[in-house]
Amino acid sequence: MMLRFLTAGESHGPGITAILEGMPAGIPVSLEELRHELKRRRWCYGRGGRATIEGDVIEVTGGIHKGRTTGAPVSIFIPNADHPNWIGRESPVFAPRPGHADLAGAIKYGFTDCRPIAERASARETAARVACGYFAKKLLALGGISIYSWVTRIGPVSAKLPAADERMYRQDIVRSLAEAAEKSPVRCPDPDATSQMMSLIDEAKKAGDTLGGVFEVSATGVPVGLGSHVHWDRRLDTRVTAAVMSIPGVKAVEIGLGIEAAIKPGSQVHDEILPGEGPIPVRNSNRAGGIEGGISNGEVIFVRAALKPIPTLQSPLRSVNLSDRTACPAHAERSDVCAVGSAAVVAEAMLALTLADAWLERFGEQVNQG
Ligand SMILES: Cc1cc2nc3c(=O)[nH]c(=O)nc-3n(C[C@H](O)[C@H](O)[C@H](O)COP(=O)(O)O)c2cc1C
Repeated sequence: MMLRFLTAGESHGPGITAILEGMPAGIPVSLEELRHELKRRRWCYGRGGRATIEGDVIEVTGGIHKGRTTGAPVSIFIPNADHPNWIGRESPVFAPRPGHADLAGAIKYGFTDCRPIAERASARETAARVACGYFAKKLLALGGISIYSWVTRIGPVSAKLPAADERMYRQDIVRSLAEAAEKSPVRCPDPDATSQMMSLIDEAKKAGDTLGGVFEVSATGVPVGLGSHVHWDRRLDTRVTAAVMSIPGVKAVEIGLGIEAAIKPGSQVHDEILPGEGPIPVRNSNRAGGIEGGISNGEVIFVRAALKPIPTLQSPLRSVNLSDRTACPAHAERSDVCAVGSAAVVAEAMLALTLADAWLERFGEQVNQG
């Protein structure tokens, strides 16, 4: 692995720390852009009160000199603005929330109070991933690669978008969807669906319930040859899907047509190879989503993922008090109602980190700093 990162820290502790190792020297970076990335993750309709408390403060304490990476590990600290409010007010979590890490984590690590599990399982950690992803995006940009995301569904409401086949194939469609998504409070490029999704989130909030959804993340400008067919763990599809699946709450990941490919005959799934006029043959469809045999094939990389509804319900499901084994409602505390748009931004970071790693494997540290 050429590019790797580790994070540490809890949701309501002093902050989240990340170390990103393997960034080549000389990549221009800016704190302002980095803060903007954090804001894109934080700001999304359906997020809870926490999103308004955090202010995208970030400290980069290593690996940068005069606005460029130095080749040394990049070290990042994102303070938790909510931490001071938490001191002395931290409540135990005796009633594990169905769908959260609480119960399995408490049994595994030997706690009765699930708080230590809840604190680290919290998606607050994904702020650090977005920060690391920013650096990966800057590296990829030098290679002409851009990353985009948008939301296609929240609960039962689906966006009306160009056919999936076209979205995967046309860079201009991918770009315009992402541009439209940037203006939508739920990151959905379809304005009608956006309003319906927002009403649905309002209703779910009123009912003390939560919502999940589907998002798509895409990379354009990816050269042929990232990843390899020779071993399972070198396959780019293995690496991309694992990276997106690692986002808390993601329960399914598809590349290209995904599950739909299982339903159609081969003639409607595979992308024909045509002579073209350039150095390599061309395709006029991209149902494969840019990866064949575990190797990027030069087309747009296209990933779709499903996020389950948030596990913390204000009208809680049934649970058990782990301190006395009595039946009780699950723990409830301030929480998001829907975070699909934020998860899409986290997926951009995970895709960027994965592609940057594969890019460095293929092309080494010699990037064009143009
Ligand atoms: C951006 C984002 C925000 C999230 N916010 C919350 C939240 O406020 N409350 C909550 O219970 N779960 C939230 N989740 C989901 C949980 O972190 C996740 O369901 C939990 O860690 C269990 O992991 P699993 O769903 O992958 O099994 C969020 C997930 C993401 C990606």
